Amino acid sequence: MATAKAHTNIALVKYWGKKDQELIIPQTDSLSLTLDEFYTTTRVNFDQELTADQVMINGQQLAGPAAAKVTHLLDIVRQRSGLSARARVDSQNHVPTAAGLASSASAFAALAGAASRAAGLQLSRRELSRLARRGSGSATRSIYGGLVEWQAGHDDQTSYALPIMEQVDFGIEMIAILVDTHKKKVSSRFGMQQSVSTSPYYRVWPEVVARDMAAVKKAIAAQDIDQIGAIAEENALRMHALTLSADPGFTYFDSDTITAMTIVRELRENGVNCYFTMDAGPNVKVIYDQVNRKAVYSTLAAQFGTDRLVVAKPGPGIEIWND
Ligand code: PMV
Repeated sequence: MATAKAHTNIALVKYWGKKDQELIIPQTDSLSLTLDEFYTTTRVNFDQELTADQVMINGQQLAGPAAAKVTHLLDIVRQRSGLSARARVDSQNHVPTAAGLASSASAFAALAGAASRAAGLQLSRRELSRLARRGSGSATRSIYGGLVEWQAGHDDQTSYALPIMEQVDFGIEMIAILVDTHKKKVSSRFGMQQSVSTSPYYRVWPEVVARDMAAVKKAIAAQDIDQIGAIAEENALRMHALTLSADPGFTYFDSDTITAMTIVRELRENGVNCYFTMDAGPNVKVIYDQVNRKAVYSTLAAQFGTDRLVVAKPGPGIEIWND
């Protein structure tokens, strides 16, 4: 029996599209910030008595395709360790209730950590990153704290994350604006596939990412939060342009997403530097230097209310322990 705690991450340069669906090898590199406020704690216990894997998330039994994704990762661990027993998986997602931020990144990183340890495997962080990748692409990066790069690679051996700066010692922060309206969302898996195969703009995406990766690494080395934020905002808009330009086109934005984007631009026009980014859902994360926290927070609170805002700082990498 073992437990792992992993934090979620938000990409500054997005992963959007796979080269290999089964192994989850991405089309491009990507780069993220791990956050302190959102994490998953997962305990795994392999038990000979069980006839099937049992997965509980926040006290609710998981079924259907979501449970099948967990069993898929457990099967990889069983195959590697030579174990045949089924597992009891008990997971707590520490995200604000109804946030719609429940992240596959922290969930599959924690599952990879706990399952491999419970099965008696002692994996390096690189091996853990590769294992987490088999559950969900963004989970590859959640093994590490701070600023993290996922190198696309070309096969299972070569596709993993590396830390760029685990202890972030400058003032970058994010406010997550929870604008989820519980609309049925397009899964990232489907959304990516649709973009890769039908957007006429997808062919330039790898060039965009290569440029943004080089620029954001320079900006990180210079601890230039404005530059990091500006690159992240532009990269997010270009990623979302791939959904709008797919056939049929779709979007993850809703009206609150657009409102938040407008407020961020207005703040900037008024001399308060901040930048937005969005993933495969309507929530907006605002990037800024902590010296601007008060101004950014109060302006967002006036529109959305403090209940829908979470201030997050850079967070740590995975922790794993035996129970
Ligand atoms: O890991 P997935 O399949 O949920 O995909 C994540 C995709 C984005 O969050 C939109 C971008 C990213 O790099 O995290």
